[in-house]
Amino acid sequence: MIYINDNYLKLPGSYLFSEIAKRVRIYKERHPGSKVISLGIGDVTQPLPPAVIAALHEATDEMSHVETMRGYAPEQGYEFLRNAIAENDFRAKGLDIHPTEIFVSDGAKSDTGNIGDILSINNKIAVTDPVYPVYVDTNAMAGRLGSLVGNVWNNLEYLPCTSENNFIPELPSKPVNVVYLCYPNNPTGTTLTKVQLKIWVDYALKNNVLLMFDAAYEAFITEKDVPHSIYEIEGAKQVAIEFRSFSKTAGFTGLRCAYTVVPKDLTAQSQSGEQASLNALWMRRQTTKFNGTAYIVQRAAEATYSPEGKKQVRELINYYLNNAKVIKEGVESLGLSAYGGVNSPYVWVRTPKNMSSWDFFDYLLNNMQIITTPGAGFGVSGEGYVRFSALGNKDATKEAVERIMNYKL
Ligand code: MLT
Repeated sequence: MIYINDNYLKLPGSYLFSEIAKRVRIYKERHPGSKVISLGIGDVTQPLPPAVIAALHEATDEMSHVETMRGYAPEQGYEFLRNAIAENDFRAKGLDIHPTEIFVSDGAKSDTGNIGDILSINNKIAVTDPVYPVYVDTNAMAGRLGSLVGNVWNNLEYLPCTSENNFIPELPSKPVNVVYLCYPNNPTGTTLTKVQLKIWVDYALKNNVLLMFDAAYEAFITEKDVPHSIYEIEGAKQVAIEFRSFSKTAGFTGLRCAYTVVPKDLTAQSQSGEQASLNALWMRRQTTKFNGTAYIVQRAAEATYSPEGKKQVRELINYYLNNAKVIKEGVESLGLSAYGGVNSPYVWVRTPKNMSSWDFFDYLLNNMQIITTPGAGFGVSGEGYVRFSALGNKDATKEAVERIMNYKL
């Protein structure tokens, strides 16, 4: 007899973005030749920065010579990249993160999904709602969330974030062990200020709670009082793991490179009551289950920190932020409420006429051939919203907004 992990049977039928892709495929089959514009999944569309392409070519050439070819990469990343990350993303900003606290990987999706490997299944989890589905589904796969009742896991603490509370989550009302925070937020595009994030760090310090801080969208921050890293808050190194990604920052969704910071100060308790280092456990997990990010990809990521790389990355971010502005201003001019888009490539829009998220998604697809992401797919509190991604092509984004304005909803 072979037994499966029964937790998989409790999951919703399919992963959100697979479900959307299926609906779009069906639409396209029924309407061949229609010009569908995707403002759905947050996937980048613009070419990689020239500095990144040059580094890829150079590293590829190195791989073609016996003297310079590389085999397995160190599981936690090459020193050249970990040093560049520590220097540019942290030390240059006055944050004391050491390269040995940095683990390079193939994506923040993998890291946020895999991190649960080092934690007991008895931890009680809290997530903001709506939420990036990976945090929830991977904890459900591990068996931490109980059962799915309707759309709600009965052993998961949801922290609603809606326009009613300005998208600022309340602290959990019941004891929890781990809280996932994503800021700038996917899907709402909203942020926490330093003062608001400090409330979470203080809460975690006081209650012995681990914060999983997903900062994959930090490069889009334009406002001064919004922290780029949770380590800007005093004490955070004792309570927080931070996830970063080159995907949206530098167009690496197809190349795959990210990193996770697991500070040496961070400990958690074993069944027998000893404190264990999470940095050591994550190192053990990665060295066992991961063989490192490709050398050429790590060289490409390193190039984003060169002077020309930094300039080109900034241009890319500004390109997408301009799309966000076009989307936001367009939908607002029709009287719809829109959030995010200022420190984020996501614009979170209230559906008109109390339409459900999926109804508005279908309405936009069927009438205007525009793909969005229905808010309900991110959780119960996402109902009544859709997410527009600003990571599309500039002209296509403009055309999508014109279609919406001409249709007048
Ligand atoms: C999204 O659309 O939410 C993102 O592309 C998902 C991801 O980064 O995995």
